[in-house]
Amino acid sequence: MSDFVVRRAEPSDAEALTRLAEEVSGEPEAWLISADGEWRSVGDERRYLKAVRRYAHAAVFVAEREDGAIVGRLSVARDAHPASAHVADIGLMVAQDARRQGVGRALLEAAVSWARPSGVSKLELHVFPWNEPAIKLYENFGFEREGYRKGHYLRAGEMVDAILMAYELSTHGSAE
Ligand SMILES: CC(C)(COP(=O)(O)OP(=O)(O)OC[C@H]1O[C@@H](n2cnc3c(N)ncnc32)[C@H](O)[C@@H]1OP(=O)(O)O)[C@@H](O)C(=O)NCCC(=O)NCCS
Repeated sequence: MSDFVVRRAEPSDAEALTRLAEEVSGEPEAWLISADGEWRSVGDERRYLKAVRRYAHAAVFVAEREDGAIVGRLSVARDAHPASAHVADIGLMVAQDARRQGVGRALLEAAVSWARPSGVSKLELHVFPWNEPAIKLYENFGFEREGYRKGHYLRAGEMVDAILMAYELSTHGSAE
């Protein structure tokens, strides 16, 4: 793949990000916890991206290829409860034709770089047990398995399990 850059998402990325989310959600393996192939509309995504730019407690990063294509999206959002405000939750997806080229790792590095000055010391996420590529990425990056959530998500009318994983910033050096 040609080079890519990781940058903060702009409201004008809404259409490309919606398309990416629809494509990834539509893959038969059902990688994403979000919602059975349904994603927010372009308008809702644009509103969300506008709001998130003014909000200190969340961020969306994109990976943009040299040809202008948006090939990855990572969202990170701090816990609302004051007792766990040091924890932020991550959502990640990479376009099928851009996988295994370092995009996921680069987006995770952006999340770590955002977390440090934001006072977030722990990143967490849920991943389906069958999502081996994601589990491998997270484990290689330094995430640890913290728990196993039985019947935690509703998917296609069925309750499915999820693995809870977390990354402690204090146990890793600066990613920059
Ligand atoms: C999981 C996902 C984000 C990985 O993104 P990616 O850009 O392909 O990951 P990277 O290229 O940065 O991979 C970094 C490392 O992770 C591991 N990894 C990633 N994909 C892997 C795979 N299919 N099999 C084994 N290891 C894999 C490898 O160690 C890899 O390093 P290497 O290529 O040098 O061996 C991507 O496959 C994806 O978007 N999948 C669908 C959506 C999804 O599952 N999102 C996560 C939901 S929790």
